Amino acid sequence: MSSDSPHAVPEDLVIHGDCITGMRSLPSGFVDLVITDPPFAIDFKAHRSNYNRTSSRVLDGYHEVDKSDYADFTRNWVSGIWRILKDTGSAYIFSGWNNLKDILIAIDDVGFTTVNHIIWKYQFGVVTKRKYVTSHYHCLYVCKDDKLRRFYPFARHGKQERSPSGGSAHYKDKEDVWIIKREYWTGDKKTPTKLPRELIEKILAYSSKEGDLVFDPFMGSGQVAVVSKMNNRRYLGFEIADDYYRFIMHRLESGRYRVEADDQNRQDDDAKLFSQIG
Ligand SMILES: C[S@@+](CC[C@H](N)C(=O)[O-])C[C@H]1O[C@@H](n2cnc3c(N)ncnc32)[C@H](O)[C@@H]1O
Repeated sequence: MSSDSPHAVPEDLVIHGDCITGMRSLPSGFVDLVITDPPFAIDFKAHRSNYNRTSSRVLDGYHEVDKSDYADFTRNWVSGIWRILKDTGSAYIFSGWNNLKDILIAIDDVGFTTVNHIIWKYQFGVVTKRKYVTSHYHCLYVCKDDKLRRFYPFARHGKQERSPSGGSAHYKDKEDVWIIKREYWTGDKKTPTKLPRELIEKILAYSSKEGDLVFDPFMGSGQVAVVSKMNNRRYLGFEIADDYYRFIMHRLESGRYRVEADDQNRQDDDAKLFSQIG
């Protein structure tokens, strides 16, 4: 749907448009959980064949933000999620290290309480010759009211459960360094960057219940919505790039987690579907 359309009770909805203006027409205090991975404002070549992928399968249109606008841009969307989040809710905000300071400043200025600063360690980075390889992301776990914030500590492992390497399984799972592999989706359509399903499922388990509403202002490939739906959560979000929006809708409507790029019949189906949506 277009971001101009009115939406009184928004749920299970992907809105095609700019999240900052779009969030203004949403009610206050109705979202249970935010999981998001905003644009980076680095010279990110979104349509290229590094990261072990074939560039023709990577969808065009990734919308980047100018570095000089990044602080204002960040403050605007962080204020937006603050307003629409319930007092009991939480937000998980992913960031590379380059522009982390703008996000840290915005979450403090807007009034969020930082609960944890999580490191997501993934399995590969871009090879370097003159510096260390970046192989982690930051994830800021924040909330509006730390007393009301909901957290389900034994959602993944029982109190008495032992980890295979010894010690308490729930303690190990709740350490703030998460070692989770990226997904490659070899041969399939993809966007240049996406959060792995395992990562989203971990957050959903600890910070939401079935039926809760999960919001992502920067949907990209739609991972947060798709994985929320698979885990019986409601979803809502924005994506500004045309092809990405269509890709998200296709994934949600077809119920396919991955969409093969080489299958001509499937491409014809996609074209039909896209013309119906568009
Ligand atoms: C880092 S990606 C998100 C990846 C996503 N978490 C996933 O797993 O696929 C950021 C996305 O935000 C979109 N975007 C950038 N500015 C936007 C805006 N103002 N409103 C909505 N979407 C925007 C970009 O087109 C891009 O798809």
